[in-house]
Amino acid sequence: MSIASDPTTRVRAHEKRLINCHQVDVNQLMPLKYHWAWEHYLNGCANNWLPSEVPMHKDIEIWRSNRLSDDERKVIMRNLGFFATAESLVGNNLVLAIFKHVTNAECRQYLLRQAFEEAVHTHTFLYIVESLGLSEGEVFNMYHEVPAIARKDALEMELTREVLEEGFTTESYEGAQAFLRNLIGYYLIMEGIFFYTGFVMVLSFHNRNMMTGIGQQFQYILRDETIHLNFGIDLINGIKQENPELWTPEFQQQVLSRVFEAVELEVAYARDVLPNGILGLNADMFREYVQFIADRRLERIGLPAQFHSSNPFPWMSETMDLSKEKNFFETKVIEYQSGQQLDWD
Ligand SMILES: [Fe+2]
Ligand SMILES: [Fe+2]
Repeated sequence: MSIASDPTTRVRAHEKRLINCHQVDVNQLMPLKYHWAWEHYLNGCANNWLPSEVPMHKDIEIWRSNRLSDDERKVIMRNLGFFATAESLVGNNLVLAIFKHVTNAECRQYLLRQAFEEAVHTHTFLYIVESLGLSEGEVFNMYHEVPAIARKDALEMELTREVLEEGFTTESYEGAQAFLRNLIGYYLIMEGIFFYTGFVMVLSFHNRNMMTGIGQQFQYILRDETIHLNFGIDLINGIKQENPELWTPEFQQQVLSRVFEAVELEVAYARDVLPNGILGLNADMFREYVQFIADRRLERIGLPAQFHSSNPFPWMSETMDLSKEKNFFETKVIEYQSGQQLDWD
């Protein structure tokens, strides 16, 4: 009997596990167990885009004109600097730390898709820097040179280091908790909290019909990140469900402390980026906003809201709802899903 036809070697859906499943010599996708992971994969694939499809001539014109104040230029530059590095940190963590320890084929399929999207996001910042003729060094070194960015990145890099330590395994209780901490740190805090201040700041220009090319790219990124966050939350909740012993009151308290710390880092970031405020935005509004966002994220992993702040930017929810509508991205130059002709001749 060949190995393939031996029923004892087949993976059954009920034997699949999100972590610590030993049947990972091949990524056997079928039978699917975690349909949510496959759905997120399909949703990600439906959103193909590349930064180079977005025309930048209007942005270039505005950037070269005197229509932007120094404070407004700082908001754009700081956010480019933060995202340029943050996207690559997320990519590194996915490929080096998460992929190895998520022992399920449909989740891995999604992780491969997400890793590609993170590469596209990093590509976006290179494209913007080149289009506007910005200093590469200034944008791509900000994580060293701007303390408010460095502190956020340090919190994340520590979580990656923990999983990359020699001998790390999710088979131990402490290892599995550290892995869950990594997932919460990246999906909930980095992609779910740290990114949203930048989304609001950059999209506020788009609302005023300024820097619309960058704005459109940020809308695409926001749409991708919404799926990343949803996948992360399903993964975290799935691991909790399969390993309830990890979710102790002490661990929950650690998560809350980490979120409190992240909120303070994010408020400090907003103060650094907006020392004087710009039209319609000031740093105090971001304390409210970051707290509001943090509560929504906590609730989605089953923890109680802590801040009870209201949303000072209700238009952000509209932007996110709009991004679910098909015609919102109608300005897209290339329609991938229509099946382009391949030129073989
Ligand atoms: Fe991203
Ligand atoms: Fe992401």
